[in-house]
Amino acid sequence: YRTLRVALLGAGAVGSQVADLLLKHGDELADRAGATLELAGIAVRDVDAKRDADLPRELFTTDAETLIVGSDIVIELMGGIEPARTQVLHAIASGADVVTANKALLATHGSEVFEAADQVGAEVYYEAAAAGAIPIIRPLRDSLAGDRVVRIMGIVNGTTNYILDRMDTEGADFADVLAQAQALGYAEADPTADVEGYDAAQKAAILASLAFHTTVPLDAVHREGITSVDAAMIESARHAGYVIKLLAVCERLAATEEGATEAISVRVYPALVERTHPLASVHGANNAVFVQAEAAGDLMFYGAGAGGVQTASAVLGDVVSAARRHIAGGVGVGESTRANLPAVPIGHVITRY
Ligand code: NDP
Ligand code: HSE
Repeated sequence: YRTLRVALLGAGAVGSQVADLLLKHGDELADRAGATLELAGIAVRDVDAKRDADLPRELFTTDAETLIVGSDIVIELMGGIEPARTQVLHAIASGADVVTANKALLATHGSEVFEAADQVGAEVYYEAAAAGAIPIIRPLRDSLAGDRVVRIMGIVNGTTNYILDRMDTEGADFADVLAQAQALGYAEADPTADVEGYDAAQKAAILASLAFHTTVPLDAVHREGITSVDAAMIESARHAGYVIKLLAVCERLAATEEGATEAISVRVYPALVERTHPLASVHGANNAVFVQAEAAGDLMFYGAGAGGVQTASAVLGDVVSAARRHIAGGVGVGESTRANLPAVPIGHVITRY
């Protein structure tokens, strides 16, 4: 096989598992990708920090910029906007395809990143940027490309589902369960992103952009987190036959006046879900995404929404796709799959709640 050079940026909850699986399953991945995936190095802040996986010390560097040069595939798992944005743009400019799980980056600078990739014929893969291990980006982008999605409703943040579920089923304390979610690698580096709904809003913007073939800006997403949800609210909801879940709801709104264009509503908020509803039985850090499409009808996607090794599955799937594209001479998913096709004018992207 031809050898492709892979650079990994970040070896935290997700990155350490990606590196571990790449090294452990190198032969199998090579067979699937049609290329040997050589892990050239891992950029981190502290080369001596303890890792979740036992990884060769010589792979670590603090010099991401140099590591990127000459790489065919760059996997960005640092999180946050900077320096992730700069390094992703550097990777694209250097001729690499990029795999990222960074919803914060894509929801805020997605257009810049995708345009940079289009200019040089590079590709950006981001299956892990929404709902962890659940395949949802490709289904929306590819499998449903011939249909018309009308609504997406889901639990897209593992940390908040873990917290609300433990509060509901065990009467657990919010702060205690949040600390456990952090220890289990579910939470963002700053868990405010989880509990205040920013992470879910970023994912909702990405999913809505794909589903409705437009660009949904993050500031068009209505966002409420779960910090105001307390034990008394959970108890009252239970007595009334409901469970509280942080939901992301993305939907087309029918034109209300003659001649008006359809609009889109995207919102994230703690909602009362009937205990008999399938979303009520999504426990722990699992996620579930319901997609309603005109021809396909109702589809449901369910699985691990957070966690290092689970998310590594989605990241490695993207790495294999990127490698196959390289081997095929750069022919791949291409521009038409971008999340930033402006089919719906931004002026018509509204929030309603
Ligand atoms: P972590 O905070 O656990 O790890 C971040 C890694 O990036 C660390 O290894 C850190 O280095 C490195 N890093 C951070 N800043 C820099 C920098 N300036 N220069 C070099 N290295 C840096 O994050 P996660 O693994 O949890 O998440 C990674 C990405 O995946 C994020 O975008 C997140 O949103 C996304 N994601 C996470 C999921 C999860 O369940 N955790 C699920 C789905 C997506 P060091 O270790 O030396 O500090
Ligand atoms: N912090 C995120 C969550 C990680 O809890 O869902 C997965 O995107």
